Amino acid sequence: MTDESNGTGVSRRGFLTRVGATGGAGAMFATMGALGLAPSAEAATRTPFQPPRASDFRLRGRGAAKVAVLGAGVAGLAAAYELGKAGYDVTILEAQDRVGGRNRTLRGGDRLTEMGGATQEVKFGKGTYMNAGPARIAQWMTTMDYCRELGVPLEVFTNSNADAYIFNESAGMTAPVRWRTAKADVYGYISELLAKATDQGALDQRLTGTDKERLLSFLSGFGAIGSKANGFAYRGTDGRRGYSVNPGAADTAGTVLGPVPSLTDVFASGVGRNFSFEFGYSQAMLMFQPVGGMDAIPRALAKAVGSGKIRTGCKVTKITNQSGGVEIEYEREGRTRKLAADYCIATLPPQILAKIPHNLGAGVQAALGTPVPNSTGKIGLEYRGRWWEDEERIYGGITNTDLDLSTIWYPSHDFHAERGLVVGYYNFGANADAYARMTHADRLRRALDQGAKIHGDRYRRNLASSASIAWIRQPHIEGGWISWPSRGAEYTLLNQAQGHVYFSGDWLSYEIAWQHGSFESARKVVTELHQRVLQS
Ligand code: ALA
Repeated sequence: MTDESNGTGVSRRGFLTRVGATGGAGAMFATMGALGLAPSAEAATRTPFQPPRASDFRLRGRGAAKVAVLGAGVAGLAAAYELGKAGYDVTILEAQDRVGGRNRTLRGGDRLTEMGGATQEVKFGKGTYMNAGPARIAQWMTTMDYCRELGVPLEVFTNSNADAYIFNESAGMTAPVRWRTAKADVYGYISELLAKATDQGALDQRLTGTDKERLLSFLSGFGAIGSKANGFAYRGTDGRRGYSVNPGAADTAGTVLGPVPSLTDVFASGVGRNFSFEFGYSQAMLMFQPVGGMDAIPRALAKAVGSGKIRTGCKVTKITNQSGGVEIEYEREGRTRKLAADYCIATLPPQILAKIPHNLGAGVQAALGTPVPNSTGKIGLEYRGRWWEDEERIYGGITNTDLDLSTIWYPSHDFHAERGLVVGYYNFGANADAYARMTHADRLRRALDQGAKIHGDRYRRNLASSASIAWIRQPHIEGGWISWPSRGAEYTLLNQAQGHVYFSGDWLSYEIAWQHGSFESARKVVTELHQRVLQS
C-alpha cells in the first residue's frame, strides 16, 4: 500500500507537491481545482481556511452529461453519488434485486440463491446479522470518510483479541492456545535466543557495545526473559501467558498458566506465523464496522443517489462504444432494452464483464480475462446463548486455525445479549472451493465438526440457525475478489478510458477486496470523466 492512495489530507498534499514539481504551479492549481481544493480569490477572503479532509472530495463545476453506471456495488454507487453532486444525469443498472454488490448483510427473511445450488432462507432472529462480504474497515480508509459524510454510525470491530485462539492441527497441536499465551512463548523464546547470541558476541560485527546493551534491555521486557545470571532464560512465569487461577483478593496472587512448552514445541506448533497479520496496514487495530450491519454503507449511498436513478433487475448484455457516446443493452423481465448515455462507468467484476459482448477491442477483452477470481466463503452460526463470552471470555476477535475453516469470528457488538452470531468459517482458496461444492447442510455439519475441535461440545449446543455463502457461486459476481497475476499492461489499460467507457472497482486499485479500493477507484474515474466533460 503506497502513501499516495491512502486518501488522507497528508498524502493528497504529497500528490499536489509532486504535481507542482513536475507540472509547475499552473498544473498544480488546475489539479487543485479539479479536486475542489482551490478557492476563488473572493471566497478566500470570506472563508477561514479549513484544512482539507479526505472526505472533501468535490467535483468543481457542473457537468451536463448523461452517465450509465453498470453495477450498484460500492464503486458504482460511489461514482453515481459523486457525479450526482456535480449535476450529472446518472442511471445505475444493477442485475440483482438489491444494491451493495459484495457488500451484503444477511438477516432473517433474506433469500440467498447460489448458482447451481439451492436457495437458502435465512432464519436469523431479529437483530442478528452476518456481514457476508466486507466486515472490517481500517481507520485510514476512505470508507471511514464516506461513513462520516453519509451519517453511517460506526463501532469498533475487534480484529485481534489476546483471548481468542490459535489452533494448528497439522502441526501436531492437540488443543487450542490463546493468542496471548502463544505470543508470550514465541516472543519469550526468540528473546532468549537473541539475548544469548548478542551476549556471546555472535552479532558483534553488526552491533556496537551500546547497541548490545540497548538490545538486551529491550529483549528483557519484550520477552520477559531472565537476567544474564539466569542465562536470559524464558521461563513463562510472567502473567502474560495467562492464568489458570486469576489474581484476586487478599492472598490470591493467581496461578500462571502452565506448563510452559519447550522452545522446540513452540516453534513446531507454528503459532508464530499468525502474528504478522495484526501488523498489516489494513488489518491493524483499531478497526471499525457500521452499527447494525455493513450494508448501511450501500444503503446510505443509494439513498443519497436517489432510488429513481437505480434500476435493479437489469442485466447488462452488450456495451457499444459510439462516436458520440455509448449504448448499453440490458435485459429486464425477459425483455431487451437500451440505455443511451454520453459515458459509461462499468463497475462489474472483470470476470463478469469479460462475458458481456462489447466493441472495445481484443486488447480490452484479453485484459478483462487476465485477473483471476478468488474463492471465499462464510457461514453464520446463530446461537441462543453467548457461550464464547460467558464460558470462554472471548468478547470479539478472531480464532486462527490451519483447519479448512481457517478462521472463526466472534461478534464485536451486542455483548451479553441473549443471542449472537459466530462466523464459523471465513476461508479462502481451495478451502472455500471445497465448502462451495457442498450443500448448506453439509457445510454446517463440517463447520461444526471442525469448530468443535476448538470449542468442544458447546459448539453444537443451542444453535438457533445458520446461513452460508460461497462467493464464487453468487450470480452476477462469481468470486470474492480477484488477483492480478501482475499489475501489468492489462491493469494499466483498464485503468484508462476506452472510448466513452471507464472501468472502476476495487480490482483496479491497490486495495483489492476492500471497499476503500472501490471508493478510490470511483473517485479517480469520476475525476477524469469530469475533467474531460469540462474540457469538451
Ligand atoms: N478485505 C478482506 C478481509 O479483510 C480480504 O478479509
